Amino acid sequence: MNKENCTSLNICVGEIQTPNPKKSQMQKATNPRKILLKKDDVNRLHDERGYFDEIAPRWDDMRRTYFSERVRDRALSEARVQRGKLAADVGVGTGFITEGLIGHGVEVLAIDESLPMLQVLRRKAFGGAGLHCCIGSAERLPVRAGAVDYVFANMCLHHVVHPAAAIGEMARILKKGGTLIITDLDEHAFAFLTEERTDRWMGFRRADVRTWFAEAGLKDIMVGDTGERASVPSDSTDNCADISIFIARGKK
Ligand SMILES: C[S@@+](CC[C@H](N)C(=O)[O-])C[C@H]1O[C@@H](n2cnc3c(N)ncnc32)[C@H](O)[C@@H]1O
Repeated sequence: MNKENCTSLNICVGEIQTPNPKKSQMQKATNPRKILLKKDDVNRLHDERGYFDEIAPRWDDMRRTYFSERVRDRALSEARVQRGKLAADVGVGTGFITEGLIGHGVEVLAIDESLPMLQVLRRKAFGGAGLHCCIGSAERLPVRAGAVDYVFANMCLHHVVHPAAAIGEMARILKKGGTLIITDLDEHAFAFLTEERTDRWMGFRRADVRTWFAEAGLKDIMVGDTGERASVPSDSTDNCADISIFIARGKK
């Protein structure tokens, strides 16, 4: 199949080299239509930011069905947040963690790759003087070293390309004595999340997270259970992911 055929069938954008099979083999040959993604699905799969841009207006409703406010309560209490301090919320989305921080009198630097997510956040009632929104990547945070008292990242790590690098960046922007809190998915086997929700990682082993915290120079490391679970249905099958959520804490 040449590139032109592929494109005109709207099945894929790449070039497929099919060898010239003998007739007997041809009967067993794979039907590309069954395994190839449509052009829009390829873009969706490999353009994670496009996915989050698209779902931004619906994220709050989706989030409510995926995991509960108790994840936020656990994250904030583990950090022992104090009024008047400054936190960064990395992969802030529409402000799930940020809302709790502002409610506790903490100023927030809200960082996300997706502008539409930040726009939804900006319009929220709590988005006043104590909220600073900024576009940025978790792996290249647009923040000076030693600038913030806390860093939070809820359900962001399994979307980044290099989780260890992101943790290194989060540690870099912490003040000495500051606290990093990550809440995310434990390792799981629900592969559909990588296709339907653009997850890059099928969760994490807690031992790996501990190692990355230590490599980032953090101390007083704790990686444990939130006692909470994420429940995420498939769009295309009856499958529903049910995954435990870990919490990781480290101090600089
Ligand atoms: C599953 S949502 C979680 C949002 C929010 N933390 C919450 O708990 O509701 C993941 C968010 O991380 C953002 N994100 C994904 N990869 C990122 C990266 N490398 N750097 C910054 N933000 C990222 C997405 O745009 C999205 O808003």
